[in-house]
Amino acid sequence: MGSKYRSPTIDRRSFVKIVTALLGSMMAAVVGLPVIQYFISPALKKDVSDDWISLGPLENYPLDIPTPFHFTLTRVNGWERSSQSYGAFVLRRPSEEIVVFSDVCTHLSCRVSWDPENEEFLCPCHAASFDKFGGVTSGPPPKPLNRYEIKLEENQLFIHFREG
Ligand code: FES
Repeated sequence: MGSKYRSPTIDRRSFVKIVTALLGSMMAAVVGLPVIQYFISPALKKDVSDDWISLGPLENYPLDIPTPFHFTLTRVNGWERSSQSYGAFVLRRPSEEIVVFSDVCTHLSCRVSWDPENEEFLCPCHAASFDKFGGVTSGPPPKPLNRYEIKLEENQLFIHFREG
């Protein structure tokens, strides 16, 4: 007496095909996902320009004379790597106050320099000048030189650099 219903069967050839396809997919995932992640991850990383930069020991900076400090930052943005240099002036006041100015003019971002004879910062682009404390004394800049946030750790001076 035969049954009307037969359980589904699978022939040997189909079984081997299915198992081979499953194993192949698993191996592709194990090998392929890290490779894909390796190529995609730089594009997903965000460029964060927010860090504390060491300006070295406080003794490097004489009292009451704006003293330049230059540093270079390297950024990785996706697959692109770029370096840019920045400048600052450190002013140690006899009152123990420490001020660190950006050397970027607040008008159109030219670099200012310190003129020790006249005790002022000069911007060569549009003949602007700033006093020793970064205040505008002549020319078109709309505001004083920007100041960095600072901290002292074991007599090392740091500035908080933020961009973007
Ligand atoms: S960029 Fe400095 S005065 Fe114009």
